[in-house]
Formats: sequence, C-alpha cells, structure tokens
Amino acid sequence: MQQALQLENASIELAKMGGIQVVGVQLKAKQYAIEIFATLNNQQAEIAKKFSNGDIPSLVFEGMIDREKGKIPASLPDIEELQIDFHCHRLSSRSQILLHLVGHRAFAYDIDNEGKLLRYVANFKGGGHEILSNENLPDKIELSSHSGLTLGPHTEAPYNCSLHSLDGHSPAPSALILTARWNPKNEPTKVIPISPIIKKINPDEVLALTSTAFNFTRSDSFTVGKGIAGNNISILDIYENNSFSIRYNSYRFSASKFASTTEKLAFEKLNIEIANADIIEYSLQPSSALIINNDIALHCRDIIKDNRRLLLRIFGYSNRATPIILNKDPLLVQG
Ligand SMILES: [Fe+2]
Repeated sequence: MQQALQLENASIELAKMGGIQVVGVQLKAKQYAIEIFATLNNQQAEIAKKFSNGDIPSLVFEGMIDREKGKIPASLPDIEELQIDFHCHRLSSRSQILLHLVGHRAFAYDIDNEGKLLRYVANFKGGGHEILSNENLPDKIELSSHSGLTLGPHTEAPYNCSLHSLDGHSPAPSALILTARWNPKNEPTKVIPISPIIKKINPDEVLALTSTAFNFTRSDSFTVGKGIAGNNISILDIYENNSFSIRYNSYRFSASKFASTTEKLAFEKLNIEIANADIIEYSLQPSSALIINNDIALHCRDIIKDNRRLLLRIFGYSNRATPIILNKDPLLVQG
C-alpha cells in the first residue's frame, strides 16, 4: 500500500506538471522510479531486473490506486478531450515511472502517433462490435490501435530492426506498457511469448527466419504521408548470448518472392505455431498495468465490444537499444 501511495503521489505530481509530453517530466519520472526502486523487496527487485535485462516476456503491476473506481462515462469522449484529461495524464505518468522502474525509457517515433509519447488505444475509427455514430461503413477501416477491429498477433512496428538502428531506421520498441482508463467489459489484452514457439521449430527453420527474405506492408498507425513498407528484412535476430528478438505481424508480413523454399516453409511453420500458441490473457483496469517485451513476445486483441474501452500505451527502449535520437526530452526518435 505504501508503494502504491508513493507511486500515486509521484504520478499526480507529474500530471500536474502537464504529463509525459512536457519537458522535464522524463527526468522527474526517472527520479521517482529510483526512489520507488529503493522500497522494493528482494523478490520485486529481482523481477524488475529480469525484465530490464530482457528475460521476461511480460510483467503485470497490480494493486495500484484507482481514484475513479466505477466512474465510467456514457460514451468515449473525443480524443481532444482525452488529451487534456487529468486522469489520462496521471495514469500515463504512472506508466512512465513504471517503465523506468524496469530499466526502460519512454519514447515516440517521428512517423507514428504524431510524434507523441502517449497513444490512446480505443475504437475512434470504427470496426468494433458496436457501430460508432459517425462510422462510415463503406470506407476501409484501418488496422491500428485507433480502430475497433480484431488485431492479430504482432510486435510493434517499425519492423526494420531491433536493438540497433539500421539504414536510417531506429529499432522497434523494446517494450510497450499499457494501462486502462476504462475497460467496462474486462476485455483482455493477449500476450504470446515467443520462446516456446522457437523451441517447436527445427534449427534449420529458425536459421531461415534470420535471413533477409521477408517483406512487410506499411502500418496504418503511421502518421499520414510518413512511414513505408519494407522489403528484405529478417524476422528473427539471434545474439551472442543466445538471446533473440522477433519482428512479426500476422497481417503485414509475407515471404519475399526471392525467398528460398526453406525460408517460405519456415515462415509458414512460424505462422502455424503462432496461430496455435498458448496465449496469456490479461484484462487491464486503472489499478493495473501490463508491460510487454516487444522483442520476445507478441500481443493481440479481439474486436472491441464496448466502445468506452480506453487503454493508454507508451513505448519504451531498454538500455541496450540504440535509436537515432531527434529530440532528447521528450525522447523522439527517427522511425
Ligand atoms: Fe499493438
């Protein structure tokens, strides 16, 4: 309870400063995280360090303070209203502190989410179970976190590289942290750890996934006019210490026409294993947060059933990631 109170008070301070997009909040969040880290017991500290080192696919924080318990609006407010909502600032500030607690720093891409750190994940653009009042059905609904559509298993874009920048692209996020402002129907976020899947694929196929034989289509969440599709990239990278990173999207990736038969078969096998994988389901509420290691776990969700469901998402980089930095505070990197 003491830790929850300390975290809550720190989050309120950051929200009062204007939230995570404001200059100086990043440093403050880091300082608060250092103070809270000092209160962790051995087991908590051990888990936090394991996540920092990239050894845990996902981690849940529970028992945090929910100031708005039970207060759910009749409908989802406009995004403009949410952007100035104190509780969105408070909850996202809390997530930024939690990111630091597990050795990650919050950042945004220049090509995505208008360069902002906080992404509002909700059905703003249609495709959910309930039709929006302004929903224009004949239009193609985008596959992004701003729609209500089912999103198949994926890691977060960009998909060019992990850990280190390549050809002018910063790496994919090391992690994403999610919390809920509202989730009236307890609709879960789903996580698929990749390690058990890799173990089911034979070594030749694992090797084939490390070749630059795969293409991806442009992400709908990228800002209009920014971000492109990619060709000849690998899905899997394996590092000296036997760790790995995956970049994958069930609805955006394909084998290139230049891929060998082995590479095509390896991709098919991966798709099948992912489709049949064990899934961890977690229903977020304002009192909880879920952090997902984007290098070693996929995530997905079903169609949004209650249009008031609003998650708040922030990307984080681990200490190992080397992005192309465009602005230090708030941290903005080249996508
Ligand atoms: Fe996602």
